[in-house]
Amino acid sequence: MKLNIALLAGDGIGPEVIEQAVKVSNAIAKKFNHEITWTAALTGACAIDAVGEPYPDETHEICMAADAVLFGAIGHPRYDNDPKAKVRPEQGLLKMRQKLGLYANVRPTFTFPSLIDNSPLKRERIEGTDIIILRELTGGIYFGARGRLDDGNTAFDTCTYTRAEVQRLAKLGFEMALTRSKKLCCVDKANVLETSRLWRETVQDMEKDYPEVTVSYEFVDAVAMRLVQWPNSYDVLITENLFGDILTDEASVISGSMGLMPSASVGIHTSLYEPIHGSYPQAAGKDIANPLATVLSAAMMFEDAFGLKEEAELIREVVNKSLAEGVVTEDLAGKNKAYKTSEVGDWLAKNI
Ligand code: IPM
Ligand code: MN
Repeated sequence: MKLNIALLAGDGIGPEVIEQAVKVSNAIAKKFNHEITWTAALTGACAIDAVGEPYPDETHEICMAADAVLFGAIGHPRYDNDPKAKVRPEQGLLKMRQKLGLYANVRPTFTFPSLIDNSPLKRERIEGTDIIILRELTGGIYFGARGRLDDGNTAFDTCTYTRAEVQRLAKLGFEMALTRSKKLCCVDKANVLETSRLWRETVQDMEKDYPEVTVSYEFVDAVAMRLVQWPNSYDVLITENLFGDILTDEASVISGSMGLMPSASVGIHTSLYEPIHGSYPQAAGKDIANPLATVLSAAMMFEDAFGLKEEAELIREVVNKSLAEGVVTEDLAGKNKAYKTSEVGDWLAKNI
């Protein structure tokens, strides 16, 4: 099969972790007789430096022409403490989500048998955890009107949702629940927010079309609590953009390292696969960052974008093997030898 993939390495550790995912993907392509064409493009702070724009038109065209986008991370500390910066790397990510129509962010959280004791949570609470948070990604407060009033002394951000936006996200949630344990949780703040009441009303209306799915409605504050108490009581959760941003970071610690969790963003145009961690600038260029979240994002890409399940399974299998055999970066090594980012990538490719 011919796979045409746009490669957006981005900033910080992005290029290093992406390099390992490329090694692994190329090893898969060789083994299964696929032909991958990688087209690299700029995004984030490196794109601002090069062309003054965090998601240049040229990058967008490359993404639109590709079958899938593999993305590293963006962000640079130079912008974080400068509230007055006119362009920010993160704007590139938001623009990319909007222009590619990536309205759903699929973030799985699962545990690795060999890493259960790395989690800050107790073994008995997290064993068997396998949840998917489906975060709405192109609406809500991230994209609503914002500004300053009162000579800059008052600020506002607005959260808006349309019924259609909720429906398309919820539809994916119902469909995903059908392929799993048929439990769907709609996370909102319907006791306070009007947008949440629209979410609840819309999802309730859709229940009749999916009689096999059991839907629960829970407030986001309660979910935040239960997620670390009894994560395995959940299966598929759907929620709006900002709640999803916060809950998915919270959920990522269940597995024991943020360096492990992959994600997919899907919607109208080309789907995008990326680790959920950020650009980790302190580690950039040091060859110490954990590449597994990016490698597992490539596995999601093989399975979801190309329907290549066996290839995806093999990637997951070698990742599990590397964890079991302690071929891991410093975040997971404990007192044992820590491998370099590139060594982990080489080991995975070799084992494929
Ligand atoms: C994420 C990130 C982004 C978000 C930032 C970098 C804009 O935190 O992908 O979760 O808030 O969506
Ligand atoms: Mn986030």
